[in-house]
Amino acid sequence: MKKIEKMRFVVDAIDVIDKMYMNGWDERNGGNFSYLLTEEEAKVFQKKKPSRVLELSFDASYLKNRFVLVTATGQFFRNVKKYPEEVLGIAKILEDGKHIGLYWGFKNGGRPTSEFPSHLLCHIARLKKDSSQRVVIHTHATYTLALTFLLPEDERIITRTLWKMCTECSIVFPEGIGYLPWELCGTTKIGEDTAKKMETFKIVLWSMHGVYSAGSSINEAFGLIETVEKAAKIYCITMGNRQREIDDESIKELCDFFRVDVNKAML
Ligand code: 13P
Ligand code: ZN
Repeated sequence: MKKIEKMRFVVDAIDVIDKMYMNGWDERNGGNFSYLLTEEEAKVFQKKKPSRVLELSFDASYLKNRFVLVTATGQFFRNVKKYPEEVLGIAKILEDGKHIGLYWGFKNGGRPTSEFPSHLLCHIARLKKDSSQRVVIHTHATYTLALTFLLPEDERIITRTLWKMCTECSIVFPEGIGYLPWELCGTTKIGEDTAKKMETFKIVLWSMHGVYSAGSSINEAFGLIETVEKAAKIYCITMGNRQREIDDESIKELCDFFRVDVNKAML
């Protein structure tokens, strides 16, 4: 049998987790990542027994029998290349939706991220909209985080500010950006609040903390954060000295030309 850490989805996950660390976004144990396996990828684990069973604090029965690759709590992204079996693990959501079985990784007694409620509840919200959605990423992207200190707590203002910073923004996230005022992280409550936002947005800012994104692939979910982070950086480095920005007419023109369904409430 192929070694689990050599399977393509694990290789791709390790690559992106390492990139986020190298970007300076995930200091210490900051950030977490989850990926729902395809049926084909899950076959390897189907007949195996879990090494441990853990209880969930929320109902994940919508995902019953699905396998998820997820980062372990307290682990440093910096170590993912060297010790993938410590930083990552594969869990299955059991039939009752209230327990998970651990199948690979989570070495030395590890368990899924403290933000597991946010991850699984966001997967559920996104899957209900689009069955191809499979990846959720949470990271402390530097300029995106800085933005939450600078702008009013208003999704329309945040969205428009970023759309105006780079030409591609309104095409990459035409539905706009969700925003959650500061609240305690690691809870089922913040998971529910984030998932509610994910019914509309693929990207949600957590005030003074970081960002969540969802996508149909690792590239999509990561690319979305990269795009938002780039726009946030342009906003920060041109602050106080901006001579121009992309106007509303140009945003409409872009969305028409690229046949993108822009969120009219944000215009
Ligand atoms: P975990 O180490 O539990 O994944 O937490 C990191 C984090 O970013 C919390 O929001
Ligand atoms: Zn965090």
